[in-house]
Amino acid sequence: MPDNAAPPFEFDPLSADFAADPHASYTRMRDLRRPYYYAPEDTWMLTRYADVRALALDDTMLRSVEGLVSPEEQRALQIKGGMHDMPYHERYVQQNMLDIEGEKHDRQRKLVFRDFTPALVERQRPYIQSLVDRLLGPLIEAGRFDFVNDFAAHVPGHVIGHILGVPEADSPQLRRWSEHVVRYYNVGRTAVQKQQAETAVREFHAYLSDMIAQRHKRPTDDLMSRLVEHEKAGRTDADETISLAMLILMAGHGSTIDVLGSGLHSLLRFPDQHQRLRSDPGLMRSAVHEMFRFESPLPYFHRFSTTEAVVAGQSFPRGTRFGLLYGAANRDPEQFERAHQFDVGRQPVRHIAFGGGAHFCLGNHLARLDMEIIFTALNQRLRQIALVEQPIYKPGLSVRGPQALEIETQAV
Ligand code: HEM
Repeated sequence: MPDNAAPPFEFDPLSADFAADPHASYTRMRDLRRPYYYAPEDTWMLTRYADVRALALDDTMLRSVEGLVSPEEQRALQIKGGMHDMPYHERYVQQNMLDIEGEKHDRQRKLVFRDFTPALVERQRPYIQSLVDRLLGPLIEAGRFDFVNDFAAHVPGHVIGHILGVPEADSPQLRRWSEHVVRYYNVGRTAVQKQQAETAVREFHAYLSDMIAQRHKRPTDDLMSRLVEHEKAGRTDADETISLAMLILMAGHGSTIDVLGSGLHSLLRFPDQHQRLRSDPGLMRSAVHEMFRFESPLPYFHRFSTTEAVVAGQSFPRGTRFGLLYGAANRDPEQFERAHQFDVGRQPVRHIAFGGGAHFCLGNHLARLDMEIIFTALNQRLRQIALVEQPIYKPGLSVRGPQALEIETQAV
């Protein structure tokens, strides 16, 4: 281990201060100009855009330690991270496409990327528009609501569920399961959260097994039927069908809710930018990208080095765990002019909120379409939006978004 593992300052991602402003800590870490060792996760944190992007694109840097260390060492790491004694989670979540490498990963990725195309996403436009209109109507009439929990929370799960073929009435349940699973990936994991995550995966598994059995008997034109077709043709196995469906339903659920909340909060914090977007709707695409850059909803992922590696000018042994702080990289002044200013017309916005390289996000088109439709609807239907109180952001390192966003609105 390099001799600068002792922390030069305290970094506490579970603190209220960090939740209120993670960028102050990210700036201090970036200013070190070398990785910061975060002992609770045994991880070297990277905050500079160039370093984070280089690691995301480096195919010697993997998400999984399988094959890199002995099975005994792998088990020890799993126990150290609290990821053991949870059979359903180990089988269907820890083994999903996001967390595997090599042939298995590439095969699954090729199949789902072929099915989950930008054209398929674009075909959801009328459904998303009608869902948004239906949800917004009564809220606008009421004139005061919590944008995150009364509105945003009901959109992404319904949309991705619609694509997979999940009945709309089941979406709230899927959201609860997703939340319990995703929360367990945050820092500061507790025993209660562990049990909730395992229970969620067990119930989710039972639900999806039923749905998959129905598609085996009577295929339809939804994405679940495509996954089942791959299984029937021997391109995937039964476990992979479940874990892929689970991953697709979970991966962009909470994160899209979070960036809807932080995106609207950014517009309200910078009224000149909000006005600029209202006067020029052609800026919507860049505005949405800027929302992802400014407050990246999934700010932290990891990689393990499979060789001895020089990272940010420093040598690290094989098997080192690195933290890719996408949220920090997206505010790096060496990459972005006026990095801490929210600019809806920023061109080009080469942010890294969807990752890069072998694990680049499957759902980025869908998340952006949800956002474009929603912010267009808000601009068209509301003359005025005012914050009722300052939002409190969720604690931790793995997610970024307001817990609630209470607003008062005036219809046009
Ligand atoms: C707010 C929206 C979203 C954000 C910020 C986001 C971000 C990311 C990031 C950063 C990664 C790469 C992780 C890494 O580098 O280790 C990723 C992967 C992934 N995302 Fe998303 N995502 C979003 C929405 C979605 C949606 C809506 C879906 C599903 C339709 C989705 C499905 C996936 C999948 C399947 C992967 C794994 C790809 C692989 O391992 O090959 N994401 N996402």
